[in-house]
Amino acid sequence: MEFPDYVKAKKRTNEKILNENYEFNINLRDLGKDKTYYLKTYGCQMNEHDSENIKAMLENMGFTAIDDYETADLVILNTCSIRENAHNKAFGMLGRLKHIKENNNPNLIVGLCGCMAQEEGVIDEIVHKYKWVNFVIGTHNLHHLPEVLNLSIENNKQEVEVFSKEGSIIEGIPVKRDSKYKAYVNIIYGCDKFCTYCIVPFTRGKQRSRNGKDIIREVEELVKDGYQEVTLLGQNVNAYGKDFDYDYNMENLLEDVAKTGIKRIFFMTSHPWDFTDGMIDVIAKYDNIMPFIHLPVQSGSSRILKLMGRRYTKESYIELFDKIKEKVPGVVISTDIIVGFPGETEEDFKETLDLVEHCKYDSAYTFIYSPREKTPAAALTNQVDEKVKEERLQRLNELINKYSLESNEKILDKTVPVLVDGISTKKGELFGYTNTKKLVNFTGDESLIGKIVNVHITDVKTWSIDGESVE
Ligand code: SAH
Ligand code: SF4
Ligand code: F3S
Repeated sequence: MEFPDYVKAKKRTNEKILNENYEFNINLRDLGKDKTYYLKTYGCQMNEHDSENIKAMLENMGFTAIDDYETADLVILNTCSIRENAHNKAFGMLGRLKHIKENNNPNLIVGLCGCMAQEEGVIDEIVHKYKWVNFVIGTHNLHHLPEVLNLSIENNKQEVEVFSKEGSIIEGIPVKRDSKYKAYVNIIYGCDKFCTYCIVPFTRGKQRSRNGKDIIREVEELVKDGYQEVTLLGQNVNAYGKDFDYDYNMENLLEDVAKTGIKRIFFMTSHPWDFTDGMIDVIAKYDNIMPFIHLPVQSGSSRILKLMGRRYTKESYIELFDKIKEKVPGVVISTDIIVGFPGETEEDFKETLDLVEHCKYDSAYTFIYSPREKTPAAALTNQVDEKVKEERLQRLNELINKYSLESNEKILDKTVPVLVDGISTKKGELFGYTNTKKLVNFTGDESLIGKIVNVHITDVKTWSIDGESVE
């Protein structure tokens, strides 16, 4: 048993991160024979990708996936801590699972992993009030899933294994990718930025980069297997390589990934502070690096940005934004914005609206500030009233929507390349994404799935884009 510890989780040491290889305990290969599993994923792309690892580890033990948690033998929740509502969703699901375990299936095995597993408060609650949860496994030791699951079954008691200090980088964890055409590739784990509102540096640990050669090898294999697209993942991909004792950074990595010949490269998320001119040049130089950048700003008020610990001002952000727009032709830029950070005044909020007016973002994720356990901002006494936060969110969204529509209108009547993902929920249509991550529904033959095809855009709205494939 090992429980999360926030003091340890916050520490950043100079200890060298080791690279190790995943080893599967062959004795566990029949643990899931004739058994089914249901995996529920909350949170970001990092969690989605971790879930692709979880699926492969479970299937290597003989478990079979099903869509219905009510009849599954094993249910795993891969959780997210970023805001209160992510928490509430996971706890709501635990409530439903408790009911099933008590009434229909006493043998149901329930496991919890992901970022909430790293939270002291959550695990305290699980250990004391959710004794029926069979196991908890943290983000740093996810590769121990087979062993921890096995122990909880063998000992017939709750098993908790959460490391608060980041472990090694584990290569070779099996993966069952959700798509045959596009893939997530981790390039950097953890985060050292400690933005004052954010829990991620606690739940994901110290910033640590994967070796370039391991990343390139993975992308080369994806190319061989017919993959068209990769998304390079990290909480802050621009910090890639900063933890190496040799010179190799995001600019170098992007260039090397581009040279593998993979058709489309996306990367996220980019912290503005680490965005270099060299990166901008590489993005502009290679046709297979997509002209799409997610560049979270969080606030337009330099005063609030300082309190958030974001390390840039409104002015320096705008300077970077304008430079990217100027140097990368046709670039589409999206952002994240938080409203109602403690102490945010109407004046501060107006600065955010003003910044949005300047940047005219193609799209944005907007959030109401949510206090997170043990983060510095949660301890501030000048929290903003809920009603004020909601009203600001609404005003902000109106402006964001206006510019999203304007952005979509730019491709109306144009023909754009789309990677065809699959069959749309709209009857008889396909769906896919443009090279600027815009979702398009369009008419076309099913044989196009998995290919990059030209689509003529016939109609655009704030939330939808329609088209027809052209040969
Ligand atoms: N690493 C990325 C973002 C990760 S979290 C970055 O630095 O930009 C995704 C988004 O969630 C953040 O960009 C932020 O807008 C939002 N977020 C993070 N913590 C939050 C909190 N406590 N309350 C509300 N939104 C939050
Ligand atoms: Fe959180 Fe800031 Fe790190 Fe992003 S950069 S994960 S917002 S601490
Ligand atoms: Fe959530 Fe953890 Fe991602 S907190 S946003 S799942 S890194």
